[in-house]
Parts: sequence; C-alpha cells; structure tokens
Amino acid sequence: MSPLKNDNFLRALMRQPTDYTPVWMMRQAGRYLPEYRESRKTAGSFLQLCKNPGFATEVTMQPLDRYPLLDAAILFSDILTVPDAMGLGLYFEEGEGPKFERTLREEADIKKLFVPDMADLQYVFDAVAQIRKTLDGGLPLIGFSGSPWTLATYMVEGKGGTDFLTIKKMAYARPDLLHRILDITAQTVTQYLNAQILAGAQAVMIFDSWGGALAHDAYGEFSLNYMQKIVSGLIKSNDGRPVPSIVFTKGGALWLEAQAEIGADALGLDWAVDIGQARQRVGHKVALQGNLDPAILLSTPDAIAKQVAKVLASYGSGHGHVFNLGHGITQWTPPENAAAMLEAVRLHSQPYHR
Ligand code: CP3
Repeated sequence: MSPLKNDNFLRALMRQPTDYTPVWMMRQAGRYLPEYRESRKTAGSFLQLCKNPGFATEVTMQPLDRYPLLDAAILFSDILTVPDAMGLGLYFEEGEGPKFERTLREEADIKKLFVPDMADLQYVFDAVAQIRKTLDGGLPLIGFSGSPWTLATYMVEGKGGTDFLTIKKMAYARPDLLHRILDITAQTVTQYLNAQILAGAQAVMIFDSWGGALAHDAYGEFSLNYMQKIVSGLIKSNDGRPVPSIVFTKGGALWLEAQAEIGADALGLDWAVDIGQARQRVGHKVALQGNLDPAILLSTPDAIAKQVAKVLASYGSGHGHVFNLGHGITQWTPPENAAAMLEAVRLHSQPYHR
C-alpha cells in the first residue's frame, strides 16, 4: 500500500497537530451530486450501488474528484446492510426511504436472531479494498456501521421515520428481548467493523442516528452500553497505525461526558450544541467532529463562510477538531455551496493552528 499523503484527518482524531482543520461531509457521496444520480441510474438502484464494489468505488470517489479540499473518503454503503445480512430483507421504495420485509417483534423471532456469517457482507469488504486501491494513499478511508440501538429501531419498527413507540414499548415491557437484539447486533457490528478495518478502513465511525430519541437513563442502558462493548472489541491499530473510532449520537449532546468515557477517540456533534462548550465538557479525552447545521448549505457562500468561521472560533485554537456537518448533507444542497464550505474551513481554520 502507498504511504498516506494527507493524514490530517487521522491526526486530528488522535488530537495531534495539523496545519488546518481537516474536513469531510456526512453523506458526501449522494443525491445532491448530479454524477451520483447518473451512477444510480446506470446501476438501477441505490442498493445496487452498495452491493457492487465497482459502483461503490465509483460513487465514493465522486466527491473527492469534485472537491480537492476534502480530507477523508467514506465508504459508500449503508448502515442497513447489517440487518439485511441478519435476514430481515432490506428494500427501498422510490422516495420513501428504507423498509424491511420482516420485523423483529415476536419473542420466537427474536430467539432465532443470529450473528450473520461475515461472508454475507463480503461485498462491503471488497468495496473497502477496492476503494483503498483507487485512493492510492491520497486520503484515508472511513468505514462505518450503525449503532445497535439505531439498527434495532429499523429491525423492530420495520422502517425509519417513526415515533419509535414499538421499540420503546419493548424497552419498557420486555427489556430482556430488546437486550437480546442489541447484544447480537453489537457482536455483529464488532465483527463487521473489524472486517472493514482488516480490508483497509483507516478509521471507523458508529452512527447512533436515533440515540437522541431515548430517555435519559434508557440512553445509557440501550445505546451507549452497546457502543462501549463494540469500541472495546475493535482492532486498535493496523498496518502500523492507530485506527481511530468516532461515536456519533444525533441528538445526544446532553450525554457527551458519558460518551467521552467509552474509549472512542472522537465524538460526533450535531448542531444543537456549542462546540466550544462541548470541548470544555469532554476535556482532553476525545477529539470532536461536527457541528455545522447542514441547512446552512442551502444559503449563500457568504452566509456559509460566516457560519463556518463561527464554529471554528467557538472551537478555538489547538488540535482535535474535524470539521463536518452536524448530520448528512441534504439532497437539495447546491454542489457549489459545499465547495464554499470547504474553502471557508481551509481559509478560516489556519490561524487557529499556528
Ligand atoms: O457519507 C457517505 O457518503 C456514505 C454513505 C452513507 C449512506 N448512508 C448512503 C445513503 C452513509 C454513511 C449512510 C448511513 C446511514 N444510513 C445512516 C446513519 C447516518 C444518518 O444519516 O443518520 C442512516 C440512519 C441510514 C439509513 C438510511 N439510508 C435512510 C434513512 C435512507 C433514506 C433517507 C435518506 O436520507 O436518503 C437511506 C438511503 C441512503 N443511504 C441514500 C444514500 C446516498 C439515498 C439513497 C438514494 O440514492 O436514493
């Protein structure tokens, strides 16, 4: 493998010095890019893009080709490949988001749940290997998974965008059943992320997109505990370099102190928190990634530059910040506005690293 030419992202996650604040964008490969929509048309569907390593590589590279100021690549895939491999039958209906053919609600079905054979996810590991080859040492590659809680919301509810009442009822009425789902999913995610690392992922991120829906005590019991189990089971270095881990609970900034204790190298921040205050609360334990509101990218280059400068000023001097959006880039983002954000990060961050 070629040596890494730009390791600013990995250095920032390890809270080592960099000359500017490195940046990438959640969902940087996606529908806001016309070249992505073209590839999806050729592939036939979103799932075909995910399941074919050639397409997954092509789409992963699109934002990097367009935006020379990006500091990391992220594997093109989806968190829902895991419940798909666990036998639930993932499908997408045009314009409706992900759905599952089967749900996990009955005790008998939950008892039958199993850790899938990683061979069923080989297409993901093949994509990781092919992307690494294509990157040729230019930028580091991020692997990822959903958190057990977030994956369980899809498995129990059968779809996204719900009020989570079915899974929350299970949490309060039959916690034993939910713990069984979470335990098996945590074992699966640990194996899945480690296989991505061995295939070439140089950092890994756990998306806990729905952790913020949990009540205060329930967050620790049903989400954070299982992310801690995963983090403690991760391969910590590969190819002579640390493999940093990032944990991101959307809507979870109330619990940053607890998140900082689970052994992850960095925490993701949505836009609900002031990043300077977050930095004070977590101290030197972790790096921070985020926290620009993705809606800002719908505005103008001037407004974007102002908001970027605010986030950077709030974080202040020193290392340990990876600039990012507080959640995925929306499909209505004009691609030139993403470029404006990246330019503003490079320009306005340099003074904080002198
Ligand atoms: O960042 C990247 O470029 C990598 C790709 C990536 C996708 N999904 C591609 C995708 C990543 C990291 C994900 C993670 C993911 N998937 C999460 C966690 C992050 C988050 O947004 O909170 C979640 C909750 C999912 C589940 C999922 N997949 C939903 C809810 C949807 C439909 C709604 C939506 O935003 O599109 C998807 C589909 C999906 N995953 C698309 C992409 C590019 C759009 C599919 C299309 O082309 O129509």
